[in-house]
Amino acid sequence: MRHAGPLAMGDGRCGDTPSMDTRCETLPAIRIAVWKELSDATHDKSHTWRTPVLATVNGHTADARVVILREVDEPERRLRFYTDERAGKVAQIRAAPTGCLVMWSPVLRWQLRCHVRLTLDVSGLAATSRWASIRLTPAANDYLSNMPPGAPLQDTPDSASGSGGVSRAHFAVVSADVYRLDWLELSPTGNRRAMFDDEGERWVQP
Ligand SMILES: Cc1cc2nc3c(=O)[nH]c(=O)nc-3n(C[C@H](O)[C@H](O)[C@H](O)COP(=O)(O)O)c2cc1C
Repeated sequence: MRHAGPLAMGDGRCGDTPSMDTRCETLPAIRIAVWKELSDATHDKSHTWRTPVLATVNGHTADARVVILREVDEPERRLRFYTDERAGKVAQIRAAPTGCLVMWSPVLRWQLRCHVRLTLDVSGLAATSRWASIRLTPAANDYLSNMPPGAPLQDTPDSASGSGGVSRAHFAVVSADVYRLDWLELSPTGNRRAMFDDEGERWVQP
């Protein structure tokens, strides 16, 4: 399993195992390690950060669901996932384009909360270019159903049934611009928590 731990030792970065001897000691080292883990999670199917929970606002209530972390653009502080444009979350994002992606790694013993601003692309270059690369793969079926996500079904779902006569895909790309990282490490020698946002990098009480 590649999900082994933070960055290799050297130039003030963290060790390559999540032991107490090699843990990240500085805020910049933690920030670097967090973005590396996020990036690794897009390639490593065993990395638990690959399947974060996305929380959104639904009117006066909260909503949350698992998504797959597809892309990480560290320079832009941007995460991306894919969805069906008819999904409930899409209407929620249109009404309130804010959310929080939450992930936990039992290997690192790190919880990460990514506070994000969300934008949708259903027909622009971001969506059409990515759809072109997945449209002939099995993953395309997630976006080809005639029925919107959450629509009531008359019968028991049949996993063999296809998308039947679909006229167009409902593929959408969601970009999540991270404006705050809230990092928490659980440790027998003392939990640590740090914030990273426009106000800077700082330790906070866990
Ligand atoms: C492991 C896992 C990965 C998932 N990945 C995605 C995803 O990348 N995009 C997505 O829209 N839904 C994904 N889902 C389904 C959502 O959790 C959710 O059930 C669906 O999108 C409908 O949610 P909504 O009604 O809030 O839009 C995933 C579910 C699981 C269990």
